Amino acid sequence: MKKKATKSPKINENTELKPSKEFSKNARVKSMAQYKRMYKESIEKPNTFWAREAKDLKWQKKWDSVLQWKAPNAKWFSGAKLNVCENCVDRHVEEGRGNKAAIIWEGEPGDKRVITYRQLLRDVSRFANALTAQGIKAKDSVLIYMPMTPEATIAMLACARIGAVHSVVFGGFSAESIKDRLDDSKAVAVITCDAGWRRGSTVPLKENVDNALKGNKTVKTVIVQKRIGNEVKMKRGRDKWWDDVTKDMPATHKPKGFNAEHPLFILYTSGSTGKPKGILHTSAGYMVGTYTTSKYIFDMKEDDVYWCTADVGWITGHSYITYGPLLNGVTQIMYEGAPNYPDWDRFWNIIEEYGVSIFYTAPTAIRAFIKAGDQHVDKHDLSSLRLLGTVGEPINPAAWLWYHEKIGGGRCPIVDTWWQTETGAAMISPLPGCTPIKPGTATLPFFGVDVAILDENGNECKPNTPGKLVIKKPWPSMLRNIYGDKKRYKDTYWSDYKGYYTAGDGALKDKKGNIYIVGRLDDVLNVSGHRLGTAEIESSLVAHKSVAEAAVVAKPHEVKGEAIVCFVTLKTNITPSPALKTELRNHVGKIIGAIAKPDSIHFAPALPKTRSGKIMRRLLKELVKTGNVTGNITTLEDPNVIEQLKNIIKE
Ligand code: WT7
Repeated sequence: MKKKATKSPKINENTELKPSKEFSKNARVKSMAQYKRMYKESIEKPNTFWAREAKDLKWQKKWDSVLQWKAPNAKWFSGAKLNVCENCVDRHVEEGRGNKAAIIWEGEPGDKRVITYRQLLRDVSRFANALTAQGIKAKDSVLIYMPMTPEATIAMLACARIGAVHSVVFGGFSAESIKDRLDDSKAVAVITCDAGWRRGSTVPLKENVDNALKGNKTVKTVIVQKRIGNEVKMKRGRDKWWDDVTKDMPATHKPKGFNAEHPLFILYTSGSTGKPKGILHTSAGYMVGTYTTSKYIFDMKEDDVYWCTADVGWITGHSYITYGPLLNGVTQIMYEGAPNYPDWDRFWNIIEEYGVSIFYTAPTAIRAFIKAGDQHVDKHDLSSLRLLGTVGEPINPAAWLWYHEKIGGGRCPIVDTWWQTETGAAMISPLPGCTPIKPGTATLPFFGVDVAILDENGNECKPNTPGKLVIKKPWPSMLRNIYGDKKRYKDTYWSDYKGYYTAGDGALKDKKGNIYIVGRLDDVLNVSGHRLGTAEIESSLVAHKSVAEAAVVAKPHEVKGEAIVCFVTLKTNITPSPALKTELRNHVGKIIGAIAKPDSIHFAPALPKTRSGKIMRRLLKELVKTGNVTGNITTLEDPNVIEQLKNIIKE
C-alpha cells in the first residue's frame, strides 16, 4: 500500500509533541531511555554523575569530594581550585576557538560589535588588571549597574577572575534600590554607564548611582563606561572612566585558582518581607550546574548561535547569558534595547540577520508579540531556528501554540524551563531531543533534581492534586546563603519540611510525571516574569506622607501575567484624587523602579482585617480577580468592609 503523505496534524493544548527523528538523532540526549538512565544515575550516584560532567571543565586542582551535605549546607567539589572566568574564556582560546565570535552585540540604535573569544580574553584581562589596580581584591563586593552592553558581561567575568563578588542590579531599578543593595552587600566599587538606551530614550544610570551613593561610606571607586556621551558629574578621586582605567593595562592576566566554595555573586530578589534577599552563589557548583544545564537543555553545540533575551540584571542573564553559554563556548547574541524598537519586528530581524538557532525568551514577551500582530513576524525568515525556550512564569497554551507555530515554524521543540534565582540553574525542563512536550508544563526534572509535590503533612500528593514543590536533594548550583543571614536562609527555604528545599511555588504532577507550576504560594508577584514582593510595594506606599495603610495584590493581566493592584487608606486629613493616584504610582516607581509601578490604586476607607489586625490579602485577591468574595469571612473584624470595597473596585 502506498504510504499517505502525512500533513502536519492540527495541534491543540492537549497534544503531546515528540521531537522529530532528525532532531533526536543529533541531540545530546536522544531518547527517553537515555534520559531515564542518566537521571537514575544522577539521583542514585550523584557523585559519579557530577564528577563526569565536571571533567569537561578546567580545574587547577581537582576536588577531594564531590559533595558534602549537612542540611542546609552543601559543599560541592571541596578541595578543588578553579577560576570560573578561565573556564568561560581562556579555555576556549586554548581549545582553538580564539577567533570564534563569543558575543555578537547589537545596540538599540543599531550599532554592532563582534567580540571573539580571544578579544574577550584580552578585554576581560585588561579589566581584571584595572580592578586590581583600583585596589579591588578577592571577596570584595562590586555592584554592577549597567545596560546590556558587552562591558556588563566583561565586568562580571573580570570580577569572577579576581575573585571579587559581583552584585548586578537591574538597570530598571531606582537609586533607592541601589542604595539598599549597596548597604547590604557593603560594596567597595560600582561599575556603571553614563546612561543606557531604552526605546529611543536614555536612562540616567550614572545619575542614579550618584543619588544612591549619597551618604555611602563603603564605595571607594566608581568606573563609568561611556555609552551615550551625555554629560555626567564625575567626582574627583572616586569616579573614573572605563577607558581611562583600562588603557594602560596589560591584555594578559593570570587567572588564579579559587576554592570551590569561593563566593561568585550575590543577586537580590524579592521575598515576602520588605527587604530583598541577597542570594549567594558560589563558584564550582554554579559553574558545573550552568554548564551542564546549558549543554543538555539548550542542546548547545559548536556551531549554534544562541540568544537569550533576558537582561544580565536577572538570574537568567547570569546563568544563561554570562556563564552557561560561555562555559559551552557557543556564539551568542546580545541585544541592548527594547523588543519593539524601532518596531515590533526587532527580535525577528535579529534572528534572521545572525541566523540564530536557539532562542530563549519569556512568556510575557511572547504575549506582547501576539498582540502586536503576525505581520511583524511574517516579514522575516526564521528558518535558522531549531530550538525555543521560555522561562519566568507558566506559559499559557495560546502563547505556547503561537510560539511553536509562528516562531518555531512547527518544527522546533520548546523547552519550558522552571527554575529560580535561588536554584541558579534550570531544574525542571524538557530535554529537546527526547521529552514529549505539551503546552503549560515544564515536564520532567533535570539530572540530579529530586523533586516532589507535598501536602501539608509532608506526604506526596496524588496525580493532578496541587501541593508544595520541594527539592529533596542538594544540587550543584543551589544557593548557599542569603548574604549575611544564615537564619533567614534556613527559615525561608529549609524549614517547611526537614532537609528539603521549599521553592515557594505550588505545583502538580500529571499521571506521567509532568510537572505543572501553579504559581507562587507566598506574597510574591510575577510581573512580566519579574519577581516583586507585595511587602516591598506596600512599604514604599506607606512611606508616602499621605498614606496610612496599604495592601497589594496581583490581578491576572493579559500580557504581563500579573498586574499590581493596590488598596490604600489615606491619612485622615487627606482627600483622595486622581492626581494623588498618579503621585503614588510615581512614588513607588521612584522608590523601587519603574517595573514596580502599580497598575491600579484604589482608595479604601478601610482594609479587610482579622480581629488580630492582619490584612486578609486572600480576600482582596479574590475580589480583584472575580469582583466578589465567596470565601469564609467570619474571621473578619468588620464584614462591611468587603461591601465597600466591591463598590470601590467598580469605579
Ligand atoms: C519564580 C522564580 C528563573 C528565572 C526567571 C525568574 C516562576 C520561573 C517558570 C516556569 C512557571 C516559572 C516561579 C519561580 N517561574 N520559571 N517555566 N513556569 N513558573 O526567576 O525571579 O527567581 O522567579 O518564577 O514562580 O518561583 P525568579
